[in-house]
Amino acid sequence: MAEALTSIKSSDDKIEIINQLLLPHTTEWLRIDNIEQAHDAIKSMKIRGAPAIASLAALSVSQHLTRALRADPPPEFLSSPESLRDHVSPILSFLFTARPTAVNLGAATRRLSRTLQSSLDAGKGVRAIAEDVIEDGRLVAAEDVGRNKAMSKWGGDWLVEEVKRKGGSGEALNVLTVCNTGSLAYGYGTALGLITYLHESGKLRRAYYTQTAPYHQGSRLTALELKTLQIPSTMIVDTMVGSLFQHHKIHAVAVGADRIAANGDTANKIGTYNAAVLAARHKIPFIVVAPITTVDLDVAHGSGIPIEHRPPLEACVVRGALYPPSLDGQGNKAQGTVMITPEGLDGIYNPSFDVTPGELITAIVTEKGVATKGGDGKFDLSSVV
Ligand code: MRU
Repeated sequence: MAEALTSIKSSDDKIEIINQLLLPHTTEWLRIDNIEQAHDAIKSMKIRGAPAIASLAALSVSQHLTRALRADPPPEFLSSPESLRDHVSPILSFLFTARPTAVNLGAATRRLSRTLQSSLDAGKGVRAIAEDVIEDGRLVAAEDVGRNKAMSKWGGDWLVEEVKRKGGSGEALNVLTVCNTGSLAYGYGTALGLITYLHESGKLRRAYYTQTAPYHQGSRLTALELKTLQIPSTMIVDTMVGSLFQHHKIHAVAVGADRIAANGDTANKIGTYNAAVLAARHKIPFIVVAPITTVDLDVAHGSGIPIEHRPPLEACVVRGALYPPSLDGQGNKAQGTVMITPEGLDGIYNPSFDVTPGELITAIVTEKGVATKGGDGKFDLSSVV
Protein backbone atom coordinates (compact mmCIF):
# COMPACT_ATOMS: atom_id res chain seq x y z
CA MET A 1 0.00 0.00 0.00
CA ALA A 2 1.43 3.40 -0.96
CA GLU A 3 2.10 5.84 1.84
CA ALA A 4 -0.73 8.25 2.67
CA LEU A 5 -0.25 12.00 2.36
CA THR A 6 0.08 13.95 5.55
CA SER A 7 -0.89 17.50 6.47
CA ILE A 8 1.19 18.20 9.60
CA LYS A 9 4.76 17.30 10.54
CA SER A 10 5.80 18.12 14.06
CA SER A 11 8.69 17.27 16.28
CA ASP A 12 9.72 18.90 19.51
CA ASP A 13 8.86 22.58 18.95
CA LYS A 14 8.90 22.50 15.15
CA ILE A 15 5.61 22.46 13.23
CA GLU A 16 5.20 22.33 9.47
CA ILE A 17 1.98 22.10 7.48
CA ILE A 18 1.44 21.31 3.85
CA ASN A 19 -0.12 24.33 2.16
CA GLN A 20 -3.42 22.82 1.00
CA LEU A 21 -4.23 25.94 -1.01
CA LEU A 22 -1.49 24.97 -3.44
CA LEU A 23 -2.22 21.25 -3.78
CA PRO A 24 -2.27 19.25 -5.97
CA HIS A 25 0.29 20.95 -8.21
CA THR A 26 2.66 22.41 -5.65
CA THR A 27 3.83 20.76 -2.45
CA GLU A 28 4.89 23.52 -0.13
CA TRP A 29 5.63 22.94 3.53
CA LEU A 30 5.04 26.02 5.67
CA ARG A 31 6.67 26.59 9.05
CA ILE A 32 4.23 27.53 11.79
CA ASP A 33 6.18 29.51 14.34
CA ASN A 34 3.59 31.22 16.45
CA ILE A 35 -0.07 31.34 17.45
CA GLU A 36 -0.94 34.04 14.87
CA GLN A 37 0.46 31.93 12.04
CA ALA A 38 -1.52 28.92 13.25
CA HIS A 39 -4.70 31.02 13.40
CA ASP A 40 -4.08 32.44 9.93
CA ALA A 41 -3.34 28.99 8.45
CA ILE A 42 -6.66 27.68 9.78
CA LYS A 43 -8.72 30.71 8.77
CA SER A 44 -7.19 30.91 5.31
CA MET A 45 -7.63 27.13 4.86
CA LYS A 46 -3.95 26.49 4.21
CA ILE A 47 -4.82 23.69 6.57
CA ARG A 48 -8.38 22.40 6.63
CA GLY A 49 -10.43 19.41 7.66
CA ALA A 50 -11.98 19.29 11.09
CA PRO A 51 -9.37 17.10 12.87
CA ALA A 52 -6.39 18.79 11.22
CA ILE A 53 -7.35 22.30 12.28
CA ALA A 54 -7.87 21.15 15.87
CA SER A 55 -4.50 19.39 15.81
CA LEU A 56 -2.67 22.44 14.51
CA ALA A 57 -4.30 24.70 17.10
CA ALA A 58 -3.33 22.32 19.91
CA LEU A 59 0.23 21.87 18.61
CA SER A 60 0.72 25.62 18.31
CA VAL A 61 -0.13 26.01 21.99
CA SER A 62 2.35 23.24 22.87
CA GLN A 63 4.98 24.94 20.75
CA HIS A 64 4.34 28.32 22.35
CA LEU A 65 4.71 26.91 25.86
CA THR A 66 7.72 24.72 24.99
CA ARG A 67 9.57 27.78 23.75
CA ALA A 68 8.53 29.77 26.81
CA LEU A 69 9.89 27.09 29.15
CA ARG A 70 13.22 27.16 27.31
CA ALA A 71 13.51 30.94 27.16
CA ASP A 72 16.21 32.62 29.18
CA PRO A 73 15.09 34.76 30.90
CA PRO A 74 11.63 33.15 31.12
CA PRO A 75 8.71 35.30 30.01
CA GLU A 76 6.75 37.18 32.63
CA PHE A 77 3.70 34.93 32.27
CA LEU A 78 5.65 32.03 33.78
CA SER A 79 5.92 33.90 37.06
CA SER A 80 2.87 32.19 38.60
CA PRO A 81 0.20 29.60 37.75
CA GLU A 82 -2.42 32.35 37.60
CA SER A 83 -0.43 34.49 35.18
CA LEU A 84 0.14 31.41 33.02
CA ARG A 85 -3.62 30.82 32.96
CA ASP A 86 -4.31 34.48 32.18
CA HIS A 87 -1.85 34.26 29.30
CA VAL A 88 -3.01 30.97 27.81
CA SER A 89 -6.80 31.45 28.12
CA PRO A 90 -7.01 34.33 25.59
CA ILE A 91 -4.76 32.37 23.22
CA LEU A 92 -7.19 29.44 23.32
CA SER A 93 -10.15 31.79 22.79
CA PHE A 94 -8.35 33.40 19.84
CA LEU A 95 -7.59 30.06 18.18
CA PHE A 96 -11.22 29.01 18.67
CA THR A 97 -12.38 31.99 16.57
CA ALA A 98 -10.51 30.82 13.45
CA ARG A 99 -13.37 28.67 12.08
CA PRO A 100 -16.79 28.17 13.70
CA THR A 101 -18.48 25.04 12.34
CA ALA A 102 -16.21 22.07 13.08
CA VAL A 103 -16.68 21.11 16.70
CA ASN A 104 -13.14 19.67 16.92
CA LEU A 105 -11.45 23.06 17.20
CA GLY A 106 -13.62 24.11 20.15
CA ALA A 107 -13.27 20.67 21.71
CA ALA A 108 -9.46 20.91 21.52
CA THR A 109 -9.25 24.43 22.94
CA ARG A 110 -11.72 23.57 25.73
CA ARG A 111 -9.74 20.42 26.52
CA LEU A 112 -6.49 22.37 26.89
CA SER A 113 -8.28 24.91 29.01
CA ARG A 114 -9.57 22.13 31.31
CA THR A 115 -6.10 20.57 31.53
CA LEU A 116 -4.64 23.90 32.53
CA GLN A 117 -7.30 24.53 35.15
CA SER A 118 -7.16 21.05 36.68
CA SER A 119 -3.35 21.16 36.97
CA LEU A 120 -3.72 24.56 38.57
CA ASP A 121 -6.41 23.27 40.96
CA ALA A 122 -4.13 20.36 41.84
CA GLY A 123 -1.66 22.91 43.20
CA LYS A 124 1.08 22.17 40.66
CA GLY A 125 3.88 24.62 39.98
CA VAL A 126 3.85 26.83 36.93
CA ARG A 127 6.34 24.72 34.95
CA ALA A 128 4.48 21.49 35.67
CA ILE A 129 1.20 23.07 34.56
CA ALA A 130 2.79 24.26 31.32
CA GLU A 131 4.22 20.78 30.76
CA ASP A 132 0.78 19.21 31.25
CA VAL A 133 -0.72 21.54 28.62
CA ILE A 134 2.18 20.86 26.24
CA GLU A 135 1.70 17.12 26.56
CA ASP A 136 -2.06 17.33 26.11
CA GLY A 137 -1.68 19.52 23.02
CA ARG A 138 0.55 16.89 21.46
CA LEU A 139 -1.92 14.17 22.45
CA VAL A 140 -4.79 15.94 20.67
CA ALA A 141 -2.77 15.69 17.48
CA ALA A 142 -1.62 12.12 18.04
CA GLU A 143 -4.97 10.53 18.84
CA ASP A 144 -6.49 10.52 15.37
CA VAL A 145 -4.81 7.65 13.54
CA GLY A 146 -5.93 4.82 15.83
CA ARG A 147 -9.48 5.97 16.18
CA ASN A 148 -9.84 6.65 12.45
CA LYS A 149 -8.76 3.09 11.71
CA ALA A 150 -11.31 1.77 14.21
CA MET A 151 -14.21 3.74 12.71
CA SER A 152 -13.16 2.85 9.16
CA LYS A 153 -13.30 -0.85 10.04
CA TRP A 154 -16.59 -0.58 11.92
CA GLY A 155 -18.19 1.31 9.04
CA GLY A 156 -16.65 -0.80 6.27
CA ASP A 157 -17.68 -4.12 7.82
CA TRP A 158 -21.16 -2.79 8.59
CA LEU A 159 -21.62 -1.58 5.02
CA VAL A 160 -20.58 -4.91 3.50
CA GLU A 161 -23.17 -6.66 5.70
CA GLU A 162 -25.82 -4.01 4.99
CA VAL A 163 -25.43 -4.48 1.23
CA LYS A 164 -25.80 -8.26 1.73
CA ARG A 165 -28.88 -7.72 3.93
CA LYS A 166 -30.39 -5.68 1.10
CA GLY A 167 -29.93 -8.54 -1.36
CA GLY A 168 -26.37 -7.92 -2.57
CA SER A 169 -24.33 -10.88 -3.70
CA GLY A 170 -21.13 -9.99 -1.88
CA GLU A 171 -19.85 -7.96 -4.83
CA ALA A 172 -17.14 -5.31 -4.40
CA LEU A 173 -18.68 -1.92 -3.62
CA ASN A 174 -18.91 1.47 -5.33
CA VAL A 175 -18.90 4.26 -2.77
CA LEU A 176 -19.39 7.98 -3.33
CA THR A 177 -17.84 10.57 -1.04
CA VAL A 178 -17.91 14.37 -0.79
CA CYS A 179 -15.12 16.79 0.09
CA ASN A 180 -11.85 15.51 1.56
CA THR A 181 -11.86 13.33 4.61
CA GLY A 182 -8.58 11.50 4.11
CA SER A 183 -5.15 11.76 5.63
CA LEU A 184 -4.88 15.42 4.57
CA ALA A 185 -7.78 16.06 6.95
CA TYR A 186 -5.65 14.05 9.39
CA GLY A 187 -4.86 10.57 10.56
CA TYR A 188 -6.02 7.63 8.46
CA GLY A 189 -9.11 9.53 7.39
CA THR A 190 -12.79 9.20 8.27
CA ALA A 191 -15.08 8.57 5.29
CA LEU A 192 -12.04 8.20 3.05
CA GLY A 193 -10.61 5.94 5.75
CA LEU A 194 -13.66 3.69 5.31
CA ILE A 195 -13.09 3.68 1.55
CA THR A 196 -9.38 2.93 2.08
CA TYR A 197 -10.27 0.09 4.45
CA LEU A 198 -12.66 -1.43 1.89
CA HIS A 199 -9.94 -1.17 -0.75
CA GLU A 200 -7.30 -2.73 1.49
CA SER A 201 -9.63 -5.62 2.28
CA GLY A 202 -10.53 -6.22 -1.38
CA LYS A 203 -14.13 -5.08 -0.94
CA LEU A 204 -14.03 -1.84 -2.90
CA ARG A 205 -14.70 -1.72 -6.61
CA ARG A 206 -14.44 2.03 -7.10
CA ALA A 207 -14.50 5.27 -5.12
CA TYR A 208 -16.47 8.16 -6.59
CA TYR A 209 -16.03 11.70 -5.32
CA THR A 210 -17.51 15.09 -6.08
CA GLN A 211 -15.28 18.00 -7.06
CA THR A 212 -16.74 19.88 -4.08
CA ALA A 213 -16.90 23.45 -5.32
CA PRO A 214 -16.03 26.14 -4.55
CA TYR A 215 -12.84 25.10 -2.71
CA HIS A 216 -12.53 21.87 -4.69
CA GLN A 217 -11.42 19.65 -1.83
CA GLY A 218 -12.59 16.73 -3.98
CA SER A 219 -10.84 17.44 -7.28
CA ARG A 220 -7.69 18.85 -5.66
CA LEU A 221 -7.23 16.83 -2.46
CA THR A 222 -9.32 13.66 -2.54
CA ALA A 223 -8.19 13.06 -6.12
CA LEU A 224 -4.57 13.35 -5.03
CA GLU A 225 -5.04 11.06 -2.05
CA LEU A 226 -6.84 8.36 -4.04
CA LYS A 227 -4.21 8.54 -6.75
CA THR A 228 -1.42 8.30 -4.18
CA LEU A 229 -3.10 5.30 -2.54
CA GLN A 230 -3.75 3.74 -5.96
CA ILE A 231 -7.43 3.32 -5.22
CA PRO A 232 -9.59 3.02 -8.37
CA SER A 233 -11.65 6.20 -8.50
CA THR A 234 -13.84 8.45 -10.60
CA MET A 235 -14.38 12.17 -10.12
CA ILE A 236 -17.75 13.73 -10.79
CA VAL A 237 -18.81 17.37 -10.96
CA ASP A 238 -21.08 18.26 -8.04
CA THR A 239 -24.11 18.59 -10.32
CA MET A 240 -23.75 14.99 -11.51
CA VAL A 241 -24.69 13.11 -8.36
CA GLY A 242 -28.25 12.48 -9.53
CA SER A 243 -27.07 11.28 -12.92
CA LEU A 244 -24.50 8.99 -11.27
CA PHE A 245 -27.21 7.40 -9.12
CA GLN A 246 -29.49 6.97 -12.14
CA HIS A 247 -26.90 5.35 -14.36
CA HIS A 248 -24.45 3.51 -12.10
CA LYS A 249 -24.78 1.07 -9.25
CA ILE A 250 -23.62 3.03 -6.20
CA HIS A 251 -23.78 0.98 -3.00
CA ALA A 252 -23.32 3.79 -0.49
CA VAL A 253 -22.48 7.42 0.14
CA ALA A 254 -19.91 7.89 2.92
CA VAL A 255 -19.13 11.37 4.22
CA GLY A 256 -17.33 12.90 7.16
CA ALA A 257 -18.76 15.46 9.55
CA ASP A 258 -17.82 18.74 11.09
CA ARG A 259 -20.46 18.56 13.81
CA ILE A 260 -23.20 16.07 14.63
CA ALA A 261 -26.12 17.27 16.75
CA ALA A 262 -27.65 15.07 19.45
CA ASN A 263 -30.47 14.03 17.11
CA GLY A 264 -28.06 12.97 14.35
CA ASP A 265 -28.42 16.08 12.15
CA THR A 266 -24.98 16.46 10.59
CA ALA A 267 -23.09 19.53 9.40
CA ASN A 268 -20.63 18.69 6.67
CA LYS A 269 -19.15 20.24 3.55
CA ILE A 270 -21.58 22.13 1.34
CA GLY A 271 -23.19 19.72 -1.12
CA THR A 272 -23.51 16.87 1.38
CA TYR A 273 -27.23 17.56 1.87
CA ASN A 274 -27.81 17.42 -1.90
CA ALA A 275 -26.13 14.02 -2.03
CA ALA A 276 -28.21 12.81 0.94
CA VAL A 277 -31.52 13.85 -0.65
CA LEU A 278 -30.58 12.06 -3.86
CA ALA A 279 -29.34 9.00 -1.97
CA ALA A 280 -32.69 8.77 -0.15
CA ARG A 281 -34.53 9.01 -3.47
CA HIS A 282 -32.40 6.16 -4.84
CA LYS A 283 -32.50 4.13 -1.59
CA ILE A 284 -28.72 4.25 -1.27
CA PRO A 285 -27.34 3.97 2.29
CA PHE A 286 -25.93 7.28 3.48
CA ILE A 287 -23.22 6.90 6.12
CA VAL A 288 -21.56 9.54 8.29
CA VAL A 289 -18.10 8.62 9.63
CA ALA A 290 -16.58 10.79 12.35
CA PRO A 291 -14.85 10.58 15.73
CA ILE A 292 -16.96 10.79 18.88
CA THR A 293 -15.56 14.27 19.48
CA THR A 294 -17.57 15.41 16.44
CA VAL A 295 -20.82 14.56 18.22
CA ASP A 296 -21.94 17.68 20.06
CA LEU A 297 -24.55 16.59 22.58
CA ASP A 298 -24.94 20.22 23.67
CA VAL A 299 -26.58 20.96 20.34
CA ALA A 300 -30.02 19.30 20.12
CA HIS A 301 -30.75 19.90 16.43
CA GLY A 302 -28.89 20.84 13.30
CA SER A 303 -30.44 24.32 13.43
CA GLY A 304 -28.19 25.01 16.45
CA ILE A 305 -24.96 24.41 14.52
CA PRO A 306 -23.17 27.63 13.50
CA ILE A 307 -22.53 27.63 9.76
CA GLU A 308 -19.44 29.37 8.48
CA HIS A 309 -19.91 31.60 5.45
CA ARG A 310 -16.72 32.09 3.47
CA PRO A 311 -15.76 35.34 1.71
CA PRO A 312 -18.01 35.79 -1.37
CA LEU A 313 -15.04 36.13 -3.72
CA GLU A 314 -14.03 32.54 -2.96
CA ALA A 315 -17.12 31.39 -4.87
CA CYS A 316 -16.15 33.53 -7.88
CA VAL A 317 -12.74 32.03 -8.57
CA VAL A 318 -11.24 28.73 -9.62
CA ARG A 319 -7.83 27.41 -8.62
CA GLY A 320 -8.35 27.16 -4.94
CA ALA A 321 -10.23 29.60 -2.82
CA LEU A 322 -7.47 31.74 -1.46
CA TYR A 323 -8.25 33.79 1.61
CA PRO A 324 -8.03 36.67 1.88
CA PRO A 325 -8.52 36.90 -1.87
CA SER A 326 -6.42 40.07 -2.08
CA LEU A 327 -3.30 38.48 -0.69
CA ASP A 328 -1.05 41.22 -2.02
CA GLY A 329 -2.73 43.70 0.32
CA GLN A 330 -3.43 46.03 -2.63
CA GLY A 331 -6.93 44.77 -3.36
CA ASN A 332 -5.66 42.60 -6.21
CA LYS A 333 -6.83 39.05 -6.62
CA ALA A 334 -4.42 36.39 -5.48
CA GLN A 335 -2.03 35.08 -8.03
CA GLY A 336 -3.19 32.00 -9.87
CA THR A 337 -6.92 32.50 -9.43
CA VAL A 338 -9.27 32.97 -12.36
CA MET A 339 -12.58 34.77 -12.04
CA ILE A 340 -15.56 32.73 -13.27
CA THR A 341 -18.06 35.55 -12.74
CA PRO A 342 -18.28 39.17 -13.84
CA GLU A 343 -16.48 41.54 -11.48
CA GLY A 344 -18.51 43.20 -8.74
CA LEU A 345 -21.40 40.78 -8.21
CA ASP A 346 -23.21 41.80 -5.06
CA GLY A 347 -25.37 38.72 -4.55
CA ILE A 348 -23.21 35.74 -3.64
CA TYR A 349 -24.25 33.00 -1.24
CA ASN A 350 -21.25 31.04 0.01
CA PRO A 351 -21.91 28.85 3.07
CA SER A 352 -19.06 26.43 3.66
CA PHE A 353 -21.26 23.72 5.17
CA ASP A 354 -24.81 22.43 5.08
CA VAL A 355 -26.80 20.32 7.51
CA THR A 356 -28.15 16.91 6.53
CA PRO A 357 -31.15 15.98 8.69
CA GLY A 358 -30.78 12.74 10.64
CA GLU A 359 -33.81 11.32 8.82
CA LEU A 360 -31.72 11.14 5.62
CA ILE A 361 -28.79 9.38 7.33
CA THR A 362 -28.69 5.59 7.46
CA ALA A 363 -25.83 5.15 9.92
CA ILE A 364 -23.46 7.23 12.03
CA VAL A 365 -20.10 5.56 12.62
CA THR A 366 -17.56 6.50 15.27
CA GLU A 367 -14.59 4.67 16.79
CA LYS A 368 -17.08 3.14 19.25
CA GLY A 369 -19.29 1.50 16.64
CA VAL A 370 -22.24 2.02 14.31
CA ALA A 371 -25.47 3.77 15.28
CA THR A 372 -28.59 3.22 13.21
CA LYS A 373 -32.06 4.60 13.83
CA GLY A 374 -34.53 2.92 16.15
CA GLY A 375 -38.11 1.96 15.37
CA ASP A 376 -39.10 5.59 16.00
CA GLY A 377 -36.85 6.68 13.12
CA LYS A 378 -34.53 8.52 15.48
CA PHE A 379 -30.87 8.12 16.34
CA ASP A 380 -29.76 7.21 19.83
CA LEU A 381 -26.14 8.25 19.74
CA SER A 382 -25.37 7.05 23.26
CA SER A 383 -23.94 3.77 21.90
CA VAL A 384 -21.34 5.57 19.76
CA VAL A 385 -20.19 8.42 21.99
O1 MRU B 1 -13.86 23.40 4.95
P1 MRU B 1 -13.10 22.15 5.25
O2 MRU B 1 -12.36 21.62 4.08
O3 MRU B 1 -12.25 22.28 6.48
O4 MRU B 1 -14.25 21.15 5.55
C1 MRU B 1 -14.09 20.08 6.37
C2 MRU B 1 -14.33 18.87 5.63
O5 MRU B 1 -13.50 18.45 4.90
C3 MRU B 1 -15.55 18.16 5.92
O6 MRU B 1 -16.35 17.99 4.81
C4 MRU B 1 -15.19 16.83 6.50
O7 MRU B 1 -16.16 15.92 6.41
C5 MRU B 1 -14.76 16.94 7.93
S1 MRU B 1 -13.06 16.73 8.01
C6 MRU B 1 -12.85 14.99 8.16
